[in-house]
Amino acid sequence: MEKAKFIVRPVSRRDRDDLVGCYYSYWEERKQNPLLGLGFLAKKPTLKEEREWFKNMYGSVRRGDTIASVAEVDGKVVGLCDVKGQRRLADTAHVAVLGIAIRKEYRAMGIGSGLLKDVIKRSGKRFDIITLSVFGTNKKAEELYRKVGFRRYGVLPKGLRRNGREIPHVYMYLDLRD
Ligand SMILES: CC(C)(COP(=O)(O)OP(=O)(O)OC[C@H]1O[C@@H](n2cnc3c(N)ncnc32)[C@H](O)[C@@H]1OP(=O)(O)O)[C@@H](O)C(=O)NCCC(=O)NCCS
Repeated sequence: MEKAKFIVRPVSRRDRDDLVGCYYSYWEERKQNPLLGLGFLAKKPTLKEEREWFKNMYGSVRRGDTIASVAEVDGKVVGLCDVKGQRRLADTAHVAVLGIAIRKEYRAMGIGSGLLKDVIKRSGKRFDIITLSVFGTNKKAEELYRKVGFRRYGVLPKGLRRNGREIPHVYMYLDLRD
C-alpha cells in the first residue's frame, strides 16, 4: 500500500468548502458504486444545507461536544473523521458515535488509519466509549476498525436498504478505558 504524504489535524473553520466538496463527491461516486458504505439523506442536500451542516458540526466542535479531524494533501482537505457526543440524554453523555469518509482518489494510502488513530487519541479525555455502524458489505472498513481496536457488538440483519437490496448493519464499539 503506497503511503500518501498527508497531514492530520483538527477541523478548522476554513475547511468548510473542501468538506462540502468531499461530501458531494460521495454523491457522484454512489452513481457508480450503489453500495458505497455511507449513509445518505433521501435527497441531495443543497449548498445552503451543506453549509448549515458544517456550521452545526463546527459549533459542536467549539462547544467540545464533537471531536473532528481532517486529512490534508497538498493543502486540500480530502477526508473527515468525527466523533460526536450523545449528550442529549445525560445517561449517554459518555458515549460518542464515529463517522469517517475519505475522497475516493485518496483511499488505501493510510489516511483512514491515521485519522482514526488521531480522533481516538483525542477522544479519551472527553468520552469513555465510541460506537460506530458499518455496512455488512464494507469488509475493508470493518477490518480497519478492528485493527484500531473496535469490536463487533451486534448485527441487525437487513438493517440497511439500498436500491432495493437489504444489507446487514454491523455495530462496533471501542471502550477507551480498556
Ligand atoms: C473506509 C475508509 C475510511 C478507510 O480509509 P482508507 O484511507 O482507505 O484506509 P487506509 O488506507 O488507512 O487502510 C487501512 C486498512 O484498511 C484496509 N484496506 C484499505 N484498503 C484496502 C484494500 N484495497 N483492500 C483490502 N484492505 C484494505 C486494510 O486493513 C488497511 O490496513 P493496512 O494498513 O494494514 O494495509 C475509506 O476507504 C472510505 O472513505 N471509504 C468510503 C466511505 C466508507 O466506507 N466509510 C466508512 C463508513 S462506516
